[in-house]
Amino acid sequence: MKSGKVVYSCLAAATCIALVTCLAGALTHHHASSGSVNLAVGKDGGNKSSPLLYGMMFEEMDHSGDGGIHGQLLQNNGFQGSTLGLTSYAPVGDAQISQDFLSPVSAAIKSSLSVSVPEGVSDYVGFANTGYNGVPVMNATYNTSFWIMGDYFGTINIQLIGSHSGIVYADHNLTVQSMASTFKQFSTSFESKESPDGDNEWHLTFDGSKIAGSSLNFGYIQLFPPTYHNRANGLRNDLATVLAEVNSTFLRFPGGNNIEGLQVDSRWKWNTTIGPLVDRPGRDSDWFYPNTDALGLDEYLWWCEDMNMTPLLAVWAGKSYGDILSGSELEPYVEDIMNELEYILGNSSTPNGKLRAQNGHKDPWKVDYVEIGNEDDLTHGCATYPDRFNQIYKAIHDKYPHVTLVASNGDYNCLPSPLPEGVIIDLHLYRQPDDFVALFNQFDNQPRNQSVMIGEYGCRNTTDAKGTYWSFMQGSCSEAVYMIGMERNSDIVKMAAYAPMLEHFGIISWSPTLYGFDSSPGSITPSTSYFVQQMFASNKGDTILPVKTSSEFGPLYWVASRTGSQYFVKLANYGPDEQNVTVSIPDTHAGRLEMLAGTQFQGNQPHNIAVQTVTSTVQGDGGKYTVINNKNADKDVARE
Ligand SMILES: *[C@@H]1O[C@H](CO)[C@@H](O)[C@H](O)[C@H]1NC(C)=O
Ligand SMILES: *[C@@H]1O[C@H](CO)[C@@H](O)[C@H](O)[C@H]1NC(C)=O
Ligand SMILES: *[C@@H]1O[C@H](CO)[C@@H](O)[C@H](O)[C@H]1NC(C)=O
Ligand SMILES: *[C@@H]1O[C@H](CO)[C@@H](O)[C@H](O)[C@H]1NC(C)=O
Ligand SMILES: *[C@@H]1O[C@H](CO)[C@@H](O)[C@H](O)[C@H]1NC(C)=O
Ligand SMILES: *[C@@H]1O[C@H](CO)[C@@H](O)[C@H](O)[C@H]1NC(C)=O
Ligand SMILES: *[C@@H]1O[C@H](CO)[C@@H](O)[C@H](O)[C@H]1NC(C)=O
Ligand SMILES: *[C@@H]1O[C@H](CO)[C@@H](O)[C@H](O)[C@H]1NC(C)=O
Ligand SMILES: *[C@@H]1O[C@H](CO)[C@@H](O)[C@H](O)[C@H]1NC(C)=O
Ligand SMILES: *[C@@H]1O[C@H](CO)[C@@H](O)[C@H](O)[C@H]1NC(C)=O
Repeated sequence: MKSGKVVYSCLAAATCIALVTCLAGALTHHHASSGSVNLAVGKDGGNKSSPLLYGMMFEEMDHSGDGGIHGQLLQNNGFQGSTLGLTSYAPVGDAQISQDFLSPVSAAIKSSLSVSVPEGVSDYVGFANTGYNGVPVMNATYNTSFWIMGDYFGTINIQLIGSHSGIVYADHNLTVQSMASTFKQFSTSFESKESPDGDNEWHLTFDGSKIAGSSLNFGYIQLFPPTYHNRANGLRNDLATVLAEVNSTFLRFPGGNNIEGLQVDSRWKWNTTIGPLVDRPGRDSDWFYPNTDALGLDEYLWWCEDMNMTPLLAVWAGKSYGDILSGSELEPYVEDIMNELEYILGNSSTPNGKLRAQNGHKDPWKVDYVEIGNEDDLTHGCATYPDRFNQIYKAIHDKYPHVTLVASNGDYNCLPSPLPEGVIIDLHLYRQPDDFVALFNQFDNQPRNQSVMIGEYGCRNTTDAKGTYWSFMQGSCSEAVYMIGMERNSDIVKMAAYAPMLEHFGIISWSPTLYGFDSSPGSITPSTSYFVQQMFASNKGDTILPVKTSSEFGPLYWVASRTGSQYFVKLANYGPDEQNVTVSIPDTHAGRLEMLAGTQFQGNQPHNIAVQTVTSTVQGDGGKYTVINNKNADKDVARE
């Protein structure tokens, strides 16, 4: 949980009303139209609220990691995976480039870029990398590094330059002395000016006259803008900061489908994602492009630590999209999980704990939640999951009894019977707006002895995976309604993670996502759902409170909570009509109102953030607040 320091620009006996409203258009799911609703928030007596409730899910897809939140900006920088060839590379000047498998940079990085220079060349020549649909060029300090093999003593020139404009934004020299038969790494940093667009590339050139008639090899190139918390191999500061502002309580990683592998051997393997980058081979992933794994196990855990999120680590549980392993065939992989957990949780006298310490985290990581597999009710996993689950559960629970284990689905046909005590089941829901609203009371009548996580959810207006879709108010509002249902029942709904998190708008396989970006400045675009998540995660008490009213749910939904003397009321209006809501909140006289409002299909797109949260102060005469949601959220939204 966030440290609990909720700072509001309002008075001690504070209250916060978070209102998500969707207006206009014909919505089918409401009982009443415009109306007057009176809510009286009680002081005591509600369900306990899970401190972890609002979290986030991350897996490498849509270039959310490589070319996304991970800071490294050059694509195909280590020629990893089997599909990219020379993608993103081009020669600069009179030189020829090719991928050279005879000169690997390391055992993991199995090739390098050969740059050969014809006889008679006297200029600077070299190669370019065009990044992930361009390189974002900001007014900032960049770090860059590369490996070279070949006999060269002289200047290397690095530039950030417009691909079509030819405008040079950064121009930097360093002197290197490289060797004929060994790769050596060089790093440097430099300042850049901002480019007005994303159509930029990174250039590395050298004095061609010194190599004419011969060649140099370059490998594992990197370019980093400023990183979050200034970490080496860190997250992009700009993209990470926007995420941190959501105030999510946990991060579910590294998948998702992406942990499973198209085949057993191409699954996500923890021990190939740690240590020096040049020793990480990368892999062909589940989402149609190779992963560099530069965002690896330790980087995920740093991310959690830096954003004060509780890690929820998923481990591979025998299911790939090819073979599924169970019984004795699974045993070595159970051992592998135990090695992974020793790496994370073991002290530095254990072999794997020692390795973690060498890799930069002396103390064990704090991991209290582990999920066994992903969606094992699907893709032929069901029949063997109960056994696979029990096998892995036993190994982990015996050694680490403090770890809460999560089953990867909620279909009792695909779960052990009985489930061991304390296990959380994980449901995933991508639904159309009306369907989410229909599930508002999903948890009201569930047994109170089975904890639930919604490990992935988000409004998807289509089942067609291809194409770019944008979150829109009706959909985000339906998520808010569903979340109110979760929060009212957060004695059993322990955790919920909106998904997917992030997309590079130019290179998408699944959308919409919480937020997105491209290579141009100012392109970071929070969706309408981003603001819903932010409002809900940032305004949550530790106890849910009863609310007295003569109104029924729909189209207005509500939940109230409290931490000490601070009250929180969340409202969602899933309807086209204005609602006049009077809320009485005991012992308070002023508060803060956050409102997100828009018309049915309104949403945010790059360089056009049409809908965002509007915050105002509200006065409550005798603890009574009147809130009228309005199409123009920034107009008169609260009256006494
Ligand atoms: C570039 O960034 C520096 C440091 O943040 C700042 O002082 C300077 O004003 C910026 N320049 C432009 C043109 O934005
Ligand atoms: C880099 O070095 C080359 C060759 O000496 C020189 O022409 C160029 O001006 C230098 N560029 C910078 C930015 O110092
Ligand atoms: C960038 O390089 C400098 C040294 O040139 C180093 O001190 C700094 O930590 C690096 N920053 C990151 C984010 O890697
Ligand atoms: C990772 O662990 C497996 C055993 O689980 C082992 O076979 C493999 O060699 C290890 N790989 C690395 C890079 O350490
Ligand atoms: C480290 O962990 C091992 C295995 O769990 C244990 O035997 C040992 O006592 C621990 N050492 C320290 C210093 O805590
Ligand atoms: C607590 O949970 C029960 C069972 O679902 C539900 O009926 C009740 O409304 C919840 N209480 C509050 C205050 O939300
Ligand atoms: C929860 O309680 C019901 C009966 O109320 C029982 O059938 C079920 O097995 C229990 N589940 C767990 C996980 O204890
Ligand atoms: C959502 O789906 C409905 C039904 O298919 C369609 O009428 C509507 O145009 C879609 N809206 C958006 C914003 O995608
Ligand atoms: C939300 O996150 C922001 C940025 O990290 C922080 O300033 C704020 O205090 C947080 N709010 C809550 C309620 O945790
Ligand atoms: C809202 O409702 C309150 C109490 O029900 C009433 O006094 C007030 O006039 C209403 N305001 C509007 C704008 O309808």
